[in-house]
Amino acid sequence: MDDEVVRAWRVVEQEPGVVLLDGFHPLKHALRFGGAVRRVLTGDRGALLALAGELAPDVVGVLDGLAVEVSEERLRGLAPRLHPTGVIALAERPSVEANREVLGRRPRRAPVVVLENPRNLGNVGAVIRLAAGFGATGVVTTGELDPWHPTVLRGSAGLHFATAVERVALSELPAGPLYVLDPEGADIRDLPFPDDALLAFGTERHGVSAELRARADQLVAVPMQPGVSSFNLATSVAMGLFHWMSGKR
Ligand SMILES: C[S@@+](CC[C@H](N)C(=O)[O-])C[C@H]1O[C@@H](n2cnc3c(N)ncnc32)[C@H](O)[C@@H]1O
Repeated sequence: MDDEVVRAWRVVEQEPGVVLLDGFHPLKHALRFGGAVRRVLTGDRGALLALAGELAPDVVGVLDGLAVEVSEERLRGLAPRLHPTGVIALAERPSVEANREVLGRRPRRAPVVVLENPRNLGNVGAVIRLAAGFGATGVVTTGELDPWHPTVLRGSAGLHFATAVERVALSELPAGPLYVLDPEGADIRDLPFPDDALLAFGTERHGVSAELRARADQLVAVPMQPGVSSFNLATSVAMGLFHWMSGKR
C-alpha cells in the first residue's frame, strides 16, 4: 500500500509547476488561499486532523478528504528535513502567466516588492510572508534563486498562495514608480509610497546593483545610528511595507 502511495507521489512530484509543501502551515495556507493541493501524506492522520481542528478548522474538511497515512520512514524518504508537524504535500503553484497578469495589472492598489538577486532562502520566505500580511500585490525576485523552493515555502508558511510570487529579469520589472531602498537614499519619513510603487531591495551582501540604482525614480533610506551599516533584508522590507501602510487609512 505504502509503495503504491509513494509511487503516485513521485509521479505528481515530477509534473511541471508542482511544489513541495513541508509542514502543516504551508499546507494550511495553500488550502485556505485556493492552491490546488494534489497529495497530502502524514505519519499520523488522527494527529494531523486534530492539529487542523485546533489551528485551522476551516481546512479540516478538505484535509480529511486528502490526507493519506504512510510510515514515518517513508515520509522521511520523501522529505528528509521533515517538519515537526509530520506532514508533506504537493500543490500546483499558480502559473507564471497568471502571476504576471496580476503583477502587471494597472491601476495597482498595493506595491510590488522587488528583491534583487536575493541569496538567503529564509529571507525570501520571510519577505513573502510580510507581503501577504501587508496585502502587497506580490514579490518578484531577480537572479538564480527559485522563490518557489521548498525552503522558501517553509519560510513563508505557504503564504505564496496569498500573493503573486515570480522570478523576473531586472529588465522585465512590472511598470510603476521605482523606489529603491538603500542606506544612501533620502529619508523615508519625507517620502510617502504610492500604491502602485515598486519597492526594491538589494542583495544581502552587496546591496543594490549599479543597474538597479540607475533605474530608480527615488533612492530611499531608513535612517540608522552612526556606525550601523545596514538592516537585514527582510526587516528592511517590513519597514518599507509598514511605511506604505501607515500612509493609508
Ligand atoms: C543587508 S542589506 C545590504 C547591505 C549591503 N552591504 C549594503 O551596503 O547595502 C540588504 C538590503 O536591505 C535594504 N536596506 C538595509 N538597510 C537599509 C536602510 N537603512 N535603508 C534602506 N534600505 C536598507 C537595502 O535594500 C539593502 O540593499
